Amino acid sequence: MDIRRLEPRDIPLIQHANLENLPENYFMKYYLYHALSWPQLSYVAVDVSRPKKTPYDYPKIVGYVLAKMEEEPTDGVQHGHITSLSVMRTHRRLGIAEKLMRQSQLAMVETFGAQYVSLHVRVSNKAAIHLYTKTLGFDQDKTEASYYADGEDAFSMRLDLSVIR
Ligand code: ACO
Repeated sequence: MDIRRLEPRDIPLIQHANLENLPENYFMKYYLYHALSWPQLSYVAVDVSRPKKTPYDYPKIVGYVLAKMEEEPTDGVQHGHITSLSVMRTHRRLGIAEKLMRQSQLAMVETFGAQYVSLHVRVSNKAAIHLYTKTLGFDQDKTEASYYADGEDAFSMRLDLSVIR
């Protein structure tokens, strides 16, 4: 498995993975906005074990993290935000999401001097909540009622990045 930065040519595959894995979907231009504005922050996991059959055969993307810096932080503190994270079902529980998140968090600090990283997660999403709180050490900041289009609440979470500064 190879973890590398997201490139604009990956975007159709990321969009496909997002549609497969999450109900929160985005227009192509929103992915492009991330890739062009903060190219250091978004990563993909590529399955390099698949043999290339033709020179045009594109490696399979099995996970991604789409991240950005908050452009006008309301608290005045420079921080990053995880827009979307997902790993294909066939490749889950192999540590891929943890690796993607750690790469992005490191780049937030090294490139943009981020003080912390924030995200939203569905209150029912046990797998992601375990990853964020138990594996990565995020704190649950607050609950945002009816955050999602279908009415589900979100936990708003944040991780202090001073540990890697
Ligand atoms: N139930 C409980 N714990 C789990 C589960 C699960 N289903 N899946 C993973 N974990 C735990 C692992 O055991 C591991 O814990 P450990 O560090 O204590 O050993 C930890 O989470 C990290 O596991 P990874 O293997 O790195 O996670 P994975 O690559 O499987 O990806 C993810 C986790 C991204 C949540 C995946 O299940 C997924 O894509 N789900 C659908 C999309 C999704 O929910 N994305 C997050 C939405 S929130 C957002 O995008 C900001």
